[in-house]
Amino acid sequence: MLRLFRLSLVTLSCVALLAAKVIADELEDVVGEVTLPAAETPVSPKSSQAVAVELTFTNFKMEAMLVALAIGLVANYFYGSRTNTQLSKTWEKPIAEVLNANFSLVGDGKRVLEWDSAADMLLYASGRRHCKFVQGHLMLKARQDPVSLLNDLVANNQEKLEMEIVLNEDEFVGFVFAAVQRKRAKALNRDRYDISTFTKIVANDKISPKLVLFSENADATAQLLESGLGDILADNNSLLEELVITDSPAEKPDSHEFKRDKKLSVVIRLPEATNNNIAQFKELLEFVFYLVDYIPEGINLRPESVRKLAKTRDEAFKEFSRMVEQDKQEALAKALSEKRRIELEQVGKMSPEQRRKWEEKDRKKQLKKEQSKRVRRVK
Ligand SMILES: *[C@@H]1O[C@H](CO)[C@@H](O)[C@H](O)[C@H]1NC(C)=O
Ligand SMILES: *[C@@H]1O[C@H](CO)[C@@H](O)[C@H](O)[C@H]1NC(C)=O
Repeated sequence: MLRLFRLSLVTLSCVALLAAKVIADELEDVVGEVTLPAAETPVSPKSSQAVAVELTFTNFKMEAMLVALAIGLVANYFYGSRTNTQLSKTWEKPIAEVLNANFSLVGDGKRVLEWDSAADMLLYASGRRHCKFVQGHLMLKARQDPVSLLNDLVANNQEKLEMEIVLNEDEFVGFVFAAVQRKRAKALNRDRYDISTFTKIVANDKISPKLVLFSENADATAQLLESGLGDILADNNSLLEELVITDSPAEKPDSHEFKRDKKLSVVIRLPEATNNNIAQFKELLEFVFYLVDYIPEGINLRPESVRKLAKTRDEAFKEFSRMVEQDKQEALAKALSEKRRIELEQVGKMSPEQRRKWEEKDRKKQLKKEQSKRVRRVK
């Protein structure tokens, strides 16, 4: 009896998890940005579970449980979405203030954060000196979707703001620099072509022990840290989780025609939404955009640093020019052999007389080719 009960519970949890996923996904599509009906009373998932368990004990009414579960999930979807809507409004305010102060076009002109899902909001702004645009997203916990929430919990995903600013190309000499959480350092060094190719981990006893610095050029790194970044990285409680400056692709290019955008990207942790924390968050955002000015205006690399950066890039990317040349040769050889194959195929279909003529002609042609080769060699 107990086993049967356990078995049904396990089955049910599986069904529940699947149903939760499906319902959350469905609702996402249907509801989009939710404006909540005022009469909605959030039922906590706990109480619906209690009802469900009681029903199994009495008469194993699977259907009743599923209905209760579905109601719980729908309620949770609305409750979770509403919580996230409120939270996103809280964080939208400082983001909007900083973006509006810096960019001429923010969002679609009306809203700053564009709702992608109940836990993911996009931002975009353009029209500012020293950069082309900023894009990013605010990632909250997936409170509306128990499965994703569980996943977040297991993966220890924190709420955060990720931003990528594409900087103007010709305004400064490109280099690679990164400051990342120690626990992310290994993965980043493994996954990112620019970081693994151009930088080395450098020890710096002035920064928080939680962070790791990847530096390409000591001159660039020292000047960058002087911007005030050094103080932020020294703070053990800073909201800045990750900062990467790069002029090379994050993924290893497979041809020489890769994009070489210069980018500044950051990951900022969202703390509990207290007034103090929001102020700290806004200050950090302002600093990030101050860096957009500081990098081209405040950093003046020594001539030998500039030469070294250029040389490293030439060497790293030489491989790709070689690759292109090789590809061209291979394509040419392939085309020629294909042409010959088709020709021979046609010859196979000819009458003996025609074939004899063709062979005569072909022999002459090959001879001529040989001769011209020899002449070229003599020249
Ligand atoms: C960016 O915004 C801050 C205030 O948030 C302001 O002090 C600064 O001047 C702005 N920068 C530009 C280039 O507009
Ligand atoms: C940061 O934490 C480390 C130990 O984890 C400590 O040695 C250091 O003094 C702390 N720095 C600050 C500014 O509190």
